[in-house]
Amino acid sequence: MKKISFLLLLSTFTFHTVTAQAQKAAIEKQKMDNFIANLMSKMTVDEKIGQLNLVTGGEATTGAAVSTDVESKIAKGNVGGIFSMTTPQKIRKTQEIAMKSRLKIPLIFGQDVIHGYKTTFPIPLALAASWDLSLIEKTARVAATEASADGLNWTFSPMVDISRDPRWGRVAEGSGEDTFLGSEIAKAMVRGYQGNDLKQLNTMMACVKHFALYGASEAGRDYNTTDMSLDRMYNEYLPPYKAALDAGAGSIMVSFNDINGVPATANKWLLTDLLRKQWGFKGFVASDYTGVSELINHGLGDLQTVSALSLKAGTDMDMVSEGFLTTLKKSLNEGKVNIAQINNACRLILEAKYKLGLFDDPFRYCSEERAAKEILTPENLKFARETATKTFVLLKNEKQTLPLKRTGTIALIGPLANTRSNMPGTWSVNADFDRIPTLLEGLTEVAGKNVKVLHALGSNLIADEKQQIWGTAHGRDIPRDNRPEDDIIAEAIKIANQSDLVVAALGEASEMSGESSSRTDIGIPDTQKKLLAALIKTGKPVVLVLFAGRPMTLTWENEHVPAILNVWFGGVEAARAIGDVLFGDVNPSGKLTMTFPQNVGQIPLYYSHKNTGRPLDNEKWFFRFRSNYLDVSNEPLYPFGYGLSYATFNYGDLKLSSNTLKPGQKITVSTTVTNTGKVAGQEVVQLYTRDLVGSSTRPVKELKGFQKITLQPGESKMVSFILSEENLKFFNNDLKFVAEPGDFKAFIGPNVRDVKEIDFKLVK
Ligand code: BGC
Repeated sequence: MKKISFLLLLSTFTFHTVTAQAQKAAIEKQKMDNFIANLMSKMTVDEKIGQLNLVTGGEATTGAAVSTDVESKIAKGNVGGIFSMTTPQKIRKTQEIAMKSRLKIPLIFGQDVIHGYKTTFPIPLALAASWDLSLIEKTARVAATEASADGLNWTFSPMVDISRDPRWGRVAEGSGEDTFLGSEIAKAMVRGYQGNDLKQLNTMMACVKHFALYGASEAGRDYNTTDMSLDRMYNEYLPPYKAALDAGAGSIMVSFNDINGVPATANKWLLTDLLRKQWGFKGFVASDYTGVSELINHGLGDLQTVSALSLKAGTDMDMVSEGFLTTLKKSLNEGKVNIAQINNACRLILEAKYKLGLFDDPFRYCSEERAAKEILTPENLKFARETATKTFVLLKNEKQTLPLKRTGTIALIGPLANTRSNMPGTWSVNADFDRIPTLLEGLTEVAGKNVKVLHALGSNLIADEKQQIWGTAHGRDIPRDNRPEDDIIAEAIKIANQSDLVVAALGEASEMSGESSSRTDIGIPDTQKKLLAALIKTGKPVVLVLFAGRPMTLTWENEHVPAILNVWFGGVEAARAIGDVLFGDVNPSGKLTMTFPQNVGQIPLYYSHKNTGRPLDNEKWFFRFRSNYLDVSNEPLYPFGYGLSYATFNYGDLKLSSNTLKPGQKITVSTTVTNTGKVAGQEVVQLYTRDLVGSSTRPVKELKGFQKITLQPGESKMVSFILSEENLKFFNNDLKFVAEPGDFKAFIGPNVRDVKEIDFKLVK
């Protein structure tokens, strides 16, 4: 009786708290609406159009066009926001100009704060490999704290494009191939950037990008066309954008690509029917860099035509093109757009500024004191180092080559061993390269006094000088040696012969992935491979420390190199973190979030493919009249979810709390994981399901859950996942989100390939 009344009291209390919160939010919203309606009643059409204009401050540019006469445009009220300008001093000066404009409307200040700010964290693909949502959220939190201390209040992140083609360089900027994991990471990043209240000084508004389907650009070529079925869109590619918006992201950026015949920037179905009507998004939509004027090249008309098309489709803010600024008034006068469309876009941008508190105080993010105190703190750098160690993926470790012992002589060879600017990775526009340790410095420091570290270049990054220049853009510098290839190798071999072990720092330079960095050959460049083969021939143990911004083809390396540690690009503390993992101070625990193919011809290769009518049964390779290749098996080199540890883990058989799942109920699937190794380690335990019979074809496996656990040597833990009808839902052919009764399988394992399985039924 007592218990019931307590529960009643509690629920009444909760009800009142929720209603009180809702009431407060409604009052706040009313206040905002009144303020903006009042402001807009004073605005001229030109001033309204001015708010839709986003210009670059020029610190980092990603296209041929740059903004001009910025200051005079701001003074005239012709600019709504600026990106690529930092520091409280510069931002204050620019905001002061806006404060002298007729209506004193503050500017919003954006930036590509992609994986940390000055404290740069590992690239997003690497962060995803940690499978650690609270860690990822904290990286975004630290990034927002530092960036907002430096005057910024809007970040062009998270990038949530599902990507299954490693030829596309921008896979480095996202979370990889999986919809479920990608959605979880998208939410974590939005929470990290925005916190609970955008008015807090250490938060910034997120801009989810690139809407939509940019990761599916044909042939992995950047900015290329996407053509996709609704089944694939709704089930595989759209959920992460939706998840980020549901988590409260205040803005979204439109992608460059064409979608089924209509470029995203002019795509009314995408930007209005889906985004606004189906999803109910209330924030604002920005184009990408010159996305509006690029519609001319897409073949949709002249600047006036495409600007009108883009506004009417649902773009609110025009980044760099100035198509809105220079043509919308004419289009309004000619009846090609209407004032309601301009008003709507203007209102959404003003609302964002209101939510950020800029109307209360336009200089609230301009504090030199905060900038001096909160950026690159020892605490943030320590966190960056810890974070990096959690993102590395141990791909191979034969005969326990790793961890290294702290004695003897190590030969550190390779073009990536002695460079600072390549360590933090693509899109680290705010990193100060000069203070980033090289791998040579980091490894020597972590190795300590009893280890001698020798170094030689060993090879150029790429034999062709022109290609090396392309692959080291944006101030990334790799020493180049113009002696004949064999002489450079011979020098390295001499050093290797004087050493007990070789660490080969090879792979891609940071700008060989990221924007405008697609590759058709995703292997280690030939000249480096030649060096690697020569190093192996010395008979010394070789550890390949692989720098990569994408899955690479490593079939030869996997056969011949005893140990491979994939370190991606690990941020400002990457060098020390690599040392921590190589010497075993930290046990690696990263797992791949994109499949590594055996060769480029297998691409796109991803785990959650459909079964086809002619799948292979248990055959490993070729079988005539089945879906496979003559020259390579269907298997990846390293599957999704894969990554080794210095410990080993054993998975017990799976148990179900019940083998039938009823609507509204839940079942538990569990297993016991044991550390059978000699050191403590972390393991990412993964749950997949398969829907065996459906009204449309279903993937052979889908990730539904994961847990990262820590186990001491000999320790066992039971890991349980809860499954409900909700987890089994998908968009059917009528685009209804349903779970269909029938037979299912659940799988648990250390990666998608090496799983144990159990059957269950969904009944209705
Ligand atoms: C990229 C965006 C980026 C923007 C602004 C574009 O080229 O596609 O991801 O946010 O530039 O720098």
